[in-house]
Amino acid sequence: MKLSLIVPAVMVLSLGGAAALAAGPAADPAKGKAVFARCVVCHDLNTGANRIGPSLKGVIGRKAGTAAGYAYSPAMKKKAVTWNAATLNAYLAAPAAYVPGNKMTMAPIANPQDRANLIAYLQQAAK
Ligand code: HEC
Repeated sequence: MKLSLIVPAVMVLSLGGAAALAAGPAADPAKGKAVFARCVVCHDLNTGANRIGPSLKGVIGRKAGTAAGYAYSPAMKKKAVTWNAATLNAYLAAPAAYVPGNKMTMAPIANPQDRANLIAYLQQAAK
């Protein structure tokens, strides 16, 4: 009796969660600019200069491990995904898990809203 009440409630909750995931949080590039402060020590955005990390100029739509003149880890070169909102979201949420053995020593960005804002900023500004 109890179970029959609980099961539908769980189903509704998980369906709601899936719908929210599919839609994604609304992204604010202006707020993403503030999140990029966590990246700027290691990443250039516009000049193409490599720092500790590769330049992120044109990173949206670029294949992983292909910035000119940058010495990538074998893991990043092997990953060979194209950077877009989905792959960036996965990488920034868990760099070590998404590309095991990659050499970016960045703490994961745990907050999905921060990641969405940051990616919106990169889409706008990393050119
Ligand atoms: C401590 C330095 C450091 C910080 C901070 C850092 N990165 Fe990185 N990043 C790296 C390094 C090093 C690599 C190269 C990884 C490899 O070759 O394995 C990298 C690689 C990347 C790549 C893959 C680029 C490519 O050309 O394939 C992306 C995308 C990226 N970082 C985004 C970010 C973002 C966004 C932030 C901020 C939230 C950030 N990184 C913070 C050092 C850093």
